[in-house]
Amino acid sequence: MLATAVLLLAATPAIAADATAAEKKAALCAACHGPSGNSTIPANPSLAGQPSQFITTQLIMFRDGRRKDPQMSPIAASLANADINEFGKYFSAQKPAPPARKTDPAKVAEGRRLTEQYNCTACHGAELKGQQHIPRLVGQQMDYLRTQLRGFKAGTRFDMDGNMTSAAQPLSEKDIEVLADYLSALQ
Ligand code: HEC
Ligand code: HEC
Repeated sequence: MLATAVLLLAATPAIAADATAAEKKAALCAACHGPSGNSTIPANPSLAGQPSQFITTQLIMFRDGRRKDPQMSPIAASLANADINEFGKYFSAQKPAPPARKTDPAKVAEGRRLTEQYNCTACHGAELKGQQHIPRLVGQQMDYLRTQLRGFKAGTRFDMDGNMTSAAQPLSEKDIEVLADYLSALQ
């Protein structure tokens, strides 16, 4: 017991120092991705609570130039693997803020029906909170979700294994609108 307590005490300062270093680095991201990775800008995604593997995979795709964005690409270009891993750990551990918007019950029912019809839950998880390299969708910025779904459908948003590009093909513009509305208001 005592030995464990001593070990824990000894370990605490190192963990605290690590957290501060990661926080300091993440301050660079806050201007665009919001405090603790909770975006307040409609076109920019929240990162809080995303699976660590999803964050690292996306950063590598931006760095390699496979996924492109005029704002994000230059940031990713200079990141070392160690930074990328640290950002994955840091943002996956941040608490997602409650969704900033609500939608009406009829739209919720329609949105839920679409996520079942198109198997979104099979990959993104029963609660659509993501897993491994697959992103969390709940509480994400509505504009961002809409743009990405349109991008996958048009083949302009790169994805690693083609699964999401395929999943977006049957979606109509109206489905995309309902899904973006539903997912962004979901907790
Ligand atoms: C100048 C603004 C800006 C800064 C600073 C910035 N980002 Fe981004 N980031 C963006 C935008 C805009 C996107 C969405 C790009 C798109 O639409 O495809 C993005 C996308 C991402 C994504 C993909 C998220 C997803 O859901 O697909 C990750 C991960 C990411 N950024 C991590 C970071 C990290 C880590 C930092 C800090 C080192 C950072 N960003 C700094 C603007 C920025
Ligand atoms: C076969 C598995 C699969 C299915 C089914 C699927 N997705 Fe995805 N989805 C993925 C993967 C994998 C990614 C990450 C793609 C990448 O960037 O490499 C993704 C990415 C996304 C993104 C981008 C989010 C972000 O933060 O960048 C959105 C939005 C999305 N999916 C919505 C949906 C919706 C809505 C459905 C149902 C209509 C759906 N997905 C069905 C696997 C799937």
